Formats: sequence, structure tokens, C-alpha cells
Amino acid sequence: MPTAPDLRDRLTAAGQGRLAGVIDNAAPEDAAALVDQLAELDLALIGRLVAQFVGRGDPSGASGALTPPDAVPLPQTPAERARETGARARGDSALRAGEVGLVLLAGGQGTRLGFEGPKGTFPFGTVRGTTLFAHHAAKVAALRARYDARLPLCLLTSPANDAETRAAFADADWFGLDPDSVSFVVQGALPAVDATTGEILREAPGRLALSPDGHGGVFLALRRSGALDWLVAAGARTVFTFQIDNPLTSVADPVFLGYHRDAGADMSNLAVRKERPDERVGVIARRDGTTVVVEYSDLDDATASAEAPDGGLVLWAGNVATHLIEIPFARRLTDGGLQLPYHRALKKVPYLDEDGRLVQPDAPNAYKFETFIFDALPRAAASITVEIARDEQFSPIKNATGADSPATCRRDMNRLYARWLAAAGVTVARGADGEPVDLEIDPRLALDAGEAQARLAGHPPITGPTALTPS
Ligand code: UTP
Repeated sequence: MPTAPDLRDRLTAAGQGRLAGVIDNAAPEDAAALVDQLAELDLALIGRLVAQFVGRGDPSGASGALTPPDAVPLPQTPAERARETGARARGDSALRAGEVGLVLLAGGQGTRLGFEGPKGTFPFGTVRGTTLFAHHAAKVAALRARYDARLPLCLLTSPANDAETRAAFADADWFGLDPDSVSFVVQGALPAVDATTGEILREAPGRLALSPDGHGGVFLALRRSGALDWLVAAGARTVFTFQIDNPLTSVADPVFLGYHRDAGADMSNLAVRKERPDERVGVIARRDGTTVVVEYSDLDDATASAEAPDGGLVLWAGNVATHLIEIPFARRLTDGGLQLPYHRALKKVPYLDEDGRLVQPDAPNAYKFETFIFDALPRAAASITVEIARDEQFSPIKNATGADSPATCRRDMNRLYARWLAAAGVTVARGADGEPVDLEIDPRLALDAGEAQARLAGHPPITGPTALTPS
């Protein structure tokens, strides 16, 4: 099927003339599928990315000294505790007024976990095998009930997992949420390109090797889909963005919200104290008068391990990748296209060779391009970072085994719930290893330690695996 002249011109201008030839010679159904996929892509952008990144050294490395961010520490003193109480009150009233939209980032590929299907369908719960979607949705329901507010929820999906994500919600009756209060927003995709020639790769005769355009794609996806307007119409002026793979997230935490509002911030961050200099989390820091996040792979050993006078790390603030973002700021970031830098990642990407044979490369052969949500920070007129306790709010499921895996997350959830129960005066049995028995507390029963204390005091001792749910 001959490539349409307009598409041929755009492919040629983007340095992808060979793909026009592939379409010319493809079976009609493959050619039509390729044309459909290309219609969704910004070919001019791909041309610019290839010119910027292929055949060049890694241009990322920004320079300039890094210093710790402006951060609110975990409260230790009476004055800090009083400040926290004030922030919580202001956050509570913004939530009661329904001024917050919830944006759950669920467009990632979850390659490291290696689980088939959207990560949100991963059954992480220790007793009932609750999925990440069900758990986050229960938190949203509990939050709406607590504040008697609409608090609309947007799920960021990708072309690869959108249909399955919608089906997971529909099959579960939207997990009890009003379907009108949930919207699905599909982020863009970008093709992998050959690392030497810059040519777009195909993974099958009628399929380009596409992947999501990174969590920074959330801004453009919210803007283009009309979701920003939908959020505003539902009363939101700030969005809370959170990641599908951290079930401990305190969704729209009122203390965080209060500090964000107090600072008049465009975009704010949560941070955990890094456990070790080489921990694989990005760090939040200040550079040249702005707040930045530097990925662990871009931090040299000396900088990562530099010590402060108190013996702690200078760059202590591990990025939890959970933010509060003002909606007008999100709009500014997308005026005239996405105002974020692109990054390249060298990956092993299976592809069809010139003879149409599938090649499984044994070394990285292709670049994927992504934008990152935290690259918006330097553009924020004001930003604040709030420290959280890792054991209360952060235990992501990234890897199949080892650190940040289902095993560590389940352990941390059990420990957290056991502490809530202990504070409520409920005894929890422990195994020979000293760990509490498996526990689940449905967020609709108790969203935090305070609610657990109020609602679970007087519960009989827990002697074996137990899921506590609303009656
Ligand atoms: P990660 O990059 O840590 O996770 O994204 P991932 O992409 O799911 O997994 P790997 O790297 O392939 O193993 C952190 C969060 O950002 C979302 C993810 O769904 C997760 O909640 N994300 C990531 C998107 O929504 N879109 C993207 O393009 C990338």
C-alpha cells in the first residue's frame, strides 16, 4: 500500500524515510495499522529527539553545586508539632472544600516487576490478595467519606494498558466509586529508535516498538484530554499525583497540603531520608536557585555520600515521586506543547530486521525517550519539600525480588498495621521470626493510625492472618 504523500513527507522530514518504504511494501492490514499508529505520534518531535540524542554523547549532565532542599522536617520539637497541627488544619479545610483532584500515575510498563497486565491489578494484599487498584480506590472512597467532598480521581494509563485498566475498574464496579467521579486519561507513546541510525523500530510487521512517554507525559495528557477542565469543574485547584506502586501513600495528605498552601507553592514534594548514599532513589536538591530532582544514576559517589556536620547525608532527601501541583501551573507547563526536557535511555528492544525477522538483541540497541514529572520543579515559582517517615508512607513495589519488591512491601504493610493495632490496644500475634501475622486493614475501616485507634479499640486479640473490613 503506497504511503500517502503527506505522511511520506512528514516521515522524510523526520529522518524516517525508510519507514515510508516499509509501509509501501507491507501487507495492507499491516500498512493500515502502521499508519494508524503514526497518526498518534508527533513525528516532528521524534525528528528533533533523534537529532538531539542519536550519535551523540549523553547530553544530560547539568552542572552546578547541589545543596539540600527547603524542607519541613519530621516534627521533633513542640514548635514543630504545633506547626504540623496548623498545616493539618489548613489541609483539612481545603479537602473539605473539595479543592483537590487525585491523579494516580498508572501508565508505566512495570518491566522490573515482570507482572502480566497493569501493575494496578497486582494482588499485593497479604490476606485477601487485594490489588493495588482496589487498595488505592478504597483510600479514595475513605477520603471522600471523611471530608464529604467530591475529590475527583484521574487515572493516567498508557495506550498499552488503558483497555485493561478500564476493564479492571468496570469488572469491580469501580470499586464502589461513582463512575462519574473517575476518569481515565491515556498518556502519549513514543517509539524506540535504533541507537545508531535513529530509525523507528517495529516489533511486529504491523506494530511499532512503542512505549509510554514517561510520567512527565501526565501534564500533556491531562491538558489534551480535557481532564484539567474536568478537575476544575469538579472544584479542584490543586492535584495530588501519586504512584500506583506505593500502597502506603497517604493520599492527599492534609499536612502535606497545608504546607504546600502555606508556601504558596506551584509544585511540592514528599521526601524520605535516604538510608544509604547508594540507595537507588533520586534526590531532591537545590541547584542554581531552583529545586531539582537528580536521578541516582546521575549522582557521583562523592556527592551522594557527602556528610553534613551532624553526620547525616547532605543530600538526604530521597524523592518519593508524590507531588502537589497547582492546576494553573500544569497549564503553563503545557502552553504551546510540553515544556519539559526529554531523556534518553539505552535499552534492549526486540525489533524486525530488514528481512522481517525478529531480532532479540543481547546488548542494548535502541533509545527510548521519556519526560519526568519532577523536571517540572525548576519551573515552579515556589516549591516546598516535606519529609515523611518511610515506615509509614513509603514501600514501593518496583522489583520482583529483593529491595522494593512485593515481599518488602507486604512486610512493611504488616508492620504498619500491627503498630496501628498496638496503638489501639489490640494484641497481634507474631511468628517465630518476630514479624506480625499477615494483616490487612481496609482503608474504608481505617485510613490512618488515628482512625484505627478510634474504630478498632476493644477488638479481640489477633491470633492469625486477619483482614479487617468495614462491617
Ligand atoms: P516507574 O518508572 O518507577 O515504574 O514509574 P514503571 O514504569 O511502572 O516500571 P519499570 O520502570 O518499567 O519497572 C513510577 C510511576 O510512574 C508511572 C508508573 O505507573 C508508576 O506509578 N508511570 C511511569 C507512568 O504513569 N507513565 C510512564 O510513562 C512511566
